[in-house]
Amino acid sequence: MLRFPGKLSAEQFLERYWQKNPLFMPAALPHIRPAITRNELAWLATLDDVESRLVFSQRSGEQVRYRAETGPFDAAYLAALPARDWTLLVHDVEKHVPAMRKLFDHVPFIPDWRIDDLMVSFAAPGGGVGPHRDNYDVFLCQGIGRREWHVTTDEIADDPHASDDLAITRTFKGITHAVSEGDVLYLPPGVAHWGTATRACMTYSVGMRAPQRSDFLIGLADSQQHNPFYRDPDLLAVEAVPGFISSEARKRAQHLVDGQLNEADVAKTLGCLATQTKDWITPEGADDDEALELADTLLQAGKLTVHGMACIAWDDHSVYVNAAQRPRSPGDADWLRSMCALRVLDGALIVDTAARDCVIWMSKMGAFDLPEKE
Ligand code: SIN
Ligand code: CO
Repeated sequence: MLRFPGKLSAEQFLERYWQKNPLFMPAALPHIRPAITRNELAWLATLDDVESRLVFSQRSGEQVRYRAETGPFDAAYLAALPARDWTLLVHDVEKHVPAMRKLFDHVPFIPDWRIDDLMVSFAAPGGGVGPHRDNYDVFLCQGIGRREWHVTTDEIADDPHASDDLAITRTFKGITHAVSEGDVLYLPPGVAHWGTATRACMTYSVGMRAPQRSDFLIGLADSQQHNPFYRDPDLLAVEAVPGFISSEARKRAQHLVDGQLNEADVAKTLGCLATQTKDWITPEGADDDEALELADTLLQAGKLTVHGMACIAWDDHSVYVNAAQRPRSPGDADWLRSMCALRVLDGALIVDTAARDCVIWMSKMGAFDLPEKE
């Protein structure tokens, strides 16, 4: 887990900072592990199903303009980049390299359905994405190298001239943090920030997801002008049970839609949104034969590995896989919790037909690695 500064506990972090205030945590993760190398990151950025961007900082005197290119990139192009003033960003790294998901274990006090992805960036000296705001909370974990962050909770105006490709704010000084390996900066949504590599560096961003009001009210007359995000500044660490969407989360979602949906519809929609995958990284589901084969593997007390791209959650009444929902039995809670914690389903925990049927359904929805086809 992150080492909080002073005697701050996870509960106090949630109470004082989560969704409220930025927090700089020096040496919160003395060594970022698992880590990825600059070459591995560049290789990911050459792949078709990996979302990647290059951002160039074009300087003229004090003025900086930011130009973005989207991947996939040619390996030779990446190898020939200049010595300064660019950064390469790769999204959803944990879905392509499942071992990297271990980094999420450093924030066990956040329900895992709230975590969207691990974005990893490599910046050459002078590189960065410019001053901006994000809509979601983020833990910016510094890997190798050095970066200087500026952070402010002041309102900063947009700067439409700074980029044709990116939403950039005016530059500001704010509070400056000179960060090195192991430092972590937590930012709530909407806080302007701006990080520039002072030495070539890697940054691991554990970014959150939060559905918006309009995601729940599709097809209903809803004012798009007022489209707030799901918020949980009152989050309690006890809500963070692996894969679990708490009834408190459902109540917050109900508040978000002003009671325009009934409890069951809110719960179902929240579960589906919490497990929604991007089209290009949605795992393939098992066909009927493969699903039965997987169930047989389990019956023989085998284990199934959860697919690296699968999004799985459960609440008091349902299980959700990649935005699909199925009712669950009360007895499913134990194996669902264990499976979500380990990303492995232990067949010894599947003891009745109801659970077996649920596993068969899950495998058809793309929950597990499939056996190699002959
Ligand atoms: C980065 O890794 O350079 C960008 C992270 C961010 O500002 O959100
Ligand atoms: Co940002």
